Amino acid sequence: MEEIPGYKKFLSEIIITEDTLQTRIAELGAEISKDYQGEDLLLICILRGAVLFLTDLMRHISVPHAIDFMAVSSYGAGARQSSGMVRITLDLKADIHDRNVLLVEDIVDSGHTLASVLELLDTRHPKSLRVCALLDKTTRREAVVPLRYIGFDIEDKFVFGYGLDLDEYYRNLPFIGVVDLDQYTPPD
Ligand code: IMP
Ligand code: MG
Repeated sequence: MEEIPGYKKFLSEIIITEDTLQTRIAELGAEISKDYQGEDLLLICILRGAVLFLTDLMRHISVPHAIDFMAVSSYGAGARQSSGMVRITLDLKADIHDRNVLLVEDIVDSGHTLASVLELLDTRHPKSLRVCALLDKTTRREAVVPLRYIGFDIEDKFVFGYGLDLDEYYRNLPFIGVVDLDQYTPPD
């Protein structure tokens, strides 16, 4: 297998530093803790991009909560945009009927992925269903999706790091960076 190059070659800019991310995540955790005081809460992480966000966020949530995971993939999509039709590749273990569900997402772009997931989860009749998204590319929105908690509004640029991948790599970086697509060559 060919070697995966370091990110510095194609990182054009760090748009959100580790400190800024962590400060905002702590604020979101505090807000969520206040809103769900005295309630049961289930956090659902959409794999794989939201994994880092979930694990940092939950450390700032002081109300008792459970976590679960689901994975979706979009049909016929290019690597950098979604088609609007999603297929569940990993379903939840938890029964969400009559529970307060908070979906934890990495980034909302067109909104199609989230819209399909929300539609599906709604058929299972949760007590409440809200979304917490780390990044919001508002200008790209095509589907109507209610976002209750938003970390950062970002410009329409392809970003990576802090859970977000470039062809499955670089999720471990502690910041959000912008890719210079002219400098980036996907692995074979
Ligand atoms: P949507 O269905 O267009 O809202 O796409 C949402 C999904 O596309 C996210 O959950 C990400 O997996 C992926 N995505 C969208 N924009 C970016 C980006 O800038 N970097 C990495 N992944 C992205
Ligand atoms: Mg995602």
